[in-house]
Amino acid sequence: MAAEWAGLDAKTRAALDGSGGLSPEQADHMIENVVGLHALPLGVAVNFVVNGREVLVPMAIEEPSVVAGASFMAKLARAGGGFVAHTTEPQMIGQMQILDVADPASARLALLEKKAHILDLANQIDPVIVKFGGGARDLEVRVMAQSPIGPFLVAHLIYDTRDAMGANAVNTACETLAPTIEQITGGRVHLRILSNLADRRLARARCVIPVSALEFGRDDPASRLYGGETVRDRIIEAYAFAAVDPYRAATHNKGIMNGVDAVVIATGNDWRAIEAGAHSYAARSGTYTSLSQWGKDAEGNLVGSLEMPMAVGIVGGATKVHPTAQAALKLMGVTNARELAEIIVSVGLAQNLAALRALATEGIQRGHMTLHARQVAIAAGAVGEQIEAVAGKLVAEKKVRVDRAEEILKGSA
Ligand code: MEV
Repeated sequence: MAAEWAGLDAKTRAALDGSGGLSPEQADHMIENVVGLHALPLGVAVNFVVNGREVLVPMAIEEPSVVAGASFMAKLARAGGGFVAHTTEPQMIGQMQILDVADPASARLALLEKKAHILDLANQIDPVIVKFGGGARDLEVRVMAQSPIGPFLVAHLIYDTRDAMGANAVNTACETLAPTIEQITGGRVHLRILSNLADRRLARARCVIPVSALEFGRDDPASRLYGGETVRDRIIEAYAFAAVDPYRAATHNKGIMNGVDAVVIATGNDWRAIEAGAHSYAARSGTYTSLSQWGKDAEGNLVGSLEMPMAVGIVGGATKVHPTAQAALKLMGVTNARELAEIIVSVGLAQNLAALRALATEGIQRGHMTLHARQVAIAAGAVGEQIEAVAGKLVAEKKVRVDRAEEILKGSA
């Protein structure tokens, strides 16, 4: 159904449904010592409206409840107009560590005096990126006055990588510029590498949820009913916990990354880079805190926002080589990296809301356990119709354990 909706061709559908996708031969060219492929479930989150556009979101993830949670929260956000998202220019930071400089302050000024020349040199390195409107944008230099080896300089090359994640372009630029930097400073350029704290390449999303959409209760006499205002206030209280406590913020942000990583992986992007960027950005004030914010507006609606680095690309690397990643981009209908980043940050916000809504009401175990129980049933050997039957029994008994599932299967209950 999803494939038909997005008007996908047969090859793209095959890449998504598992009958096509990455071949062992293609994998063999991607990394070393390939022995096979490792699959993950690929789900499609529904109900997303991002900047007024309907979008189906591919999510590669092993954890139950994530795709359902994102889809349901996207439905609530749709009642308030969907997600409004935007990104900064796709600027990455390349770092050069400059050691053995006699006078760091003067060397810093010497580099800044030659900025135009250095940027010009950098722009001769990758004419393709420059042709597409990217390239070197700025040079920033800091003196690290104190370190375990004494003072040194750090130069940041700010580089617009357009639709590429950009690690290769930035690393090449830094390596190529190093001799010139040494000449100007009289020092020794040591590390030349991209920073994953991509705080010049941010993605932001916000949503407004009417309180009427927040009412919560299950069709079950044992389930408590929560009014919309109660759910809203409880979600804001839950957010406040993450705002002030790093122990809670880590878990809160993990919930955001459940959504973010699933789309990042589905599109063949580097999720370790996204994780590193997210958590270092969350700690930028010196105290690790929540990446998102929740509050209420003058009309009493719940309002949420999320801002985080989002270094994703749609050209180069696995995004280009992996057939499923290509198909995932087609399914979303994205034509540039910024659009992809806007969808991903919206999914992160939706996922955060799903977790907070559950935690702030009945807790996550009830919804989670129903799905988890299916995995437990399968692990115990259930097949076909047995899976739902065993899972249902485990949940009803509140004993979601493999040993109990095995007993049920053996008929010894
Ligand atoms: C579990 O994968 C994610 C949550 O722990 C997130 C959160 O606590 O906000 C439910």
